[in-house]
Amino acid sequence: MEVIREKQAMRDWSRAQRKAGERVALVPTMGYLHEGHLSLVREAKLHATKVVVSVYVNPSQFAPGEDLSTYPRDFEGDLEKLKPLGVDAIFNPFDLYVRDSSASKPDEQKVVTSPGKALKQEESGHETWIRVERLEKPLCGNDRPIFFRGVATVVAKLFNIVEPDVAVFGKKDYQQWRIIRRMVRDLDFGVEIIGCPLLREEDGLAMSSRNVRLSAAERQDALSISRSLREVEDAVRLGEVDATVLEQRVHKAITSAGGQVDYAKIVDQETLLEVKTIEFPVVFAVAARFGSVRLLDNIELQPP
Ligand code: PAJ
Repeated sequence: MEVIREKQAMRDWSRAQRKAGERVALVPTMGYLHEGHLSLVREAKLHATKVVVSVYVNPSQFAPGEDLSTYPRDFEGDLEKLKPLGVDAIFNPFDLYVRDSSASKPDEQKVVTSPGKALKQEESGHETWIRVERLEKPLCGNDRPIFFRGVATVVAKLFNIVEPDVAVFGKKDYQQWRIIRRMVRDLDFGVEIIGCPLLREEDGLAMSSRNVRLSAAERQDALSISRSLREVEDAVRLGEVDATVLEQRVHKAITSAGGQVDYAKIVDQETLLEVKTIEFPVVFAVAARFGSVRLLDNIELQPP
């Protein structure tokens, strides 16, 4: 298992593999790996002969004031978890935006737009962004307007560096998965995108690197999300198709447990547009905060 830190070394490695007839899969992550991530690696092995896992906490998807500096990290632990899975390479760049040898020189970072107003380093070293214009707006896009711009752009960069045949994403981040698929379709990336089921802890909590930041009490309260989504699944099976009724039920369950709901919406699986009635496959997507921790969860639902 090689650890690769430079963009060009990563590209050379991948090209050598493909030249030798190997099929390369990429699993992009921000590290602090858990079973959810590892399930993507196992899936990747079914679709390719060589698997690359990228571990990179992407600054451009965090807005000022979000948890970039406190995002949990444990690279040594990540290596230990990946070793037994037969991963071939870990791409762990120091910085994908400016400090890498292929990026702008230090002098170019001091761009001045108007007297006395220097651009921030990231702005001066990087100014090309991918926006998946409509799909990025609802759900998480409402509260985090630059989040998907950062995600789509870093994933495009990773695709250009690793040049994978296939890339694997979790449906835990349902909107992210849809956005990446759409970007690949619209911009003709030659990468097949695979979506994997959301993995849960035994008590039902959706696995997430951020779960470690929940206190014991918050973690108990946060179970209201998965519990209420399971109840919705039962209700739909019994014939309830009114989206508002179901959304209110989840909203109430989470707020009664002390959570703050960012959104709890039933949307079309493809377009992510809100629906009034469950008449075709939909996804119930939730974002809620417990303490300072923002949690995502979702469940795919079929009409009864
Ligand atoms: P990260 O949150 O580390 O997640 C990496 C991948 O693991 C994503 O595809 C995510 O959907 C998947 N994943 C996380 N928790 C999961 C769970 N409980 N079940 C199944 N899959 C799960 O998502 C990102 O990083 C970043 O936005 C990234 C795509 C790497 C771009 O920076």
